[in-house]
Amino acid sequence: MRIDVISAVVKILEAPLNESILKRAQDKGLAEIVLHNLRDYATDRYRHVDDKPFGGGAGMVLKPEPLFSCLDKLLGERSYDEVIYLTPQGAKFNQKKANTLSLKKNLLFICGHYKGIDQRVIDKYVTKEISIGDYVITGGEAAAIVVIDSVVRLLPGVLGDSESALTDSFQTDSGFDAPVYTRPAEIDGMKVPEVLLGGNHKDIAAWRLDQGKKKYSRVKRKKL
Ligand code: ADE
Repeated sequence: MRIDVISAVVKILEAPLNESILKRAQDKGLAEIVLHNLRDYATDRYRHVDDKPFGGGAGMVLKPEPLFSCLDKLLGERSYDEVIYLTPQGAKFNQKKANTLSLKKNLLFICGHYKGIDQRVIDKYVTKEISIGDYVITGGEAAAIVVIDSVVRLLPGVLGDSESALTDSFQTDSGFDAPVYTRPAEIDGMKVPEVLLGGNHKDIAAWRLDQGKKKYSRVKRKKL
């Protein structure tokens, strides 16, 4: 899979995309993630990528020209299955959407910053608007990391058998993963559940399913 990300602050993306599983996926050639610095497409000599909103109001808006120019270049090079704009006004992201995106070949992400991007960019290029939740963060970069991570870990070969994405929370019938423990078997008087120490895989699987379900209903009923 190839993933392109357009951002005015690529530094935010660099570290998380080059660590852990995302790094491994790229090293193995399973995902190619390419960052595009919007400032490289600015048209003025001060490399401005934002401007004040027409009609007034607080915050700045990402200008259309650098985005048009970057998008035209990328779309001229290959076709994309989706051009995704990360925004709190988008459709709420979830595991099902991650599964769907993981089957695509080329994905293009646009990260907004400040107050957002000029609406004409959305009208002309964007095929999907995605939100990672009902709260506002400073830019789309952190949201892009969330979406990209959840998609790339699903690509065949990225995770080893022992880490299989099929047992991740939300992929199982129970909704959530069961609690996990490691050594020691007892700390400060708190013991690891007996069933996990016994080595009976059928009992362990049943216990995990049950715990996952219980945790799911507990958390989903709880008001934050
Ligand atoms: N940009 C700012 N807030 C966001 C959110 N909740 N989801 C996606 N992109 C965003």
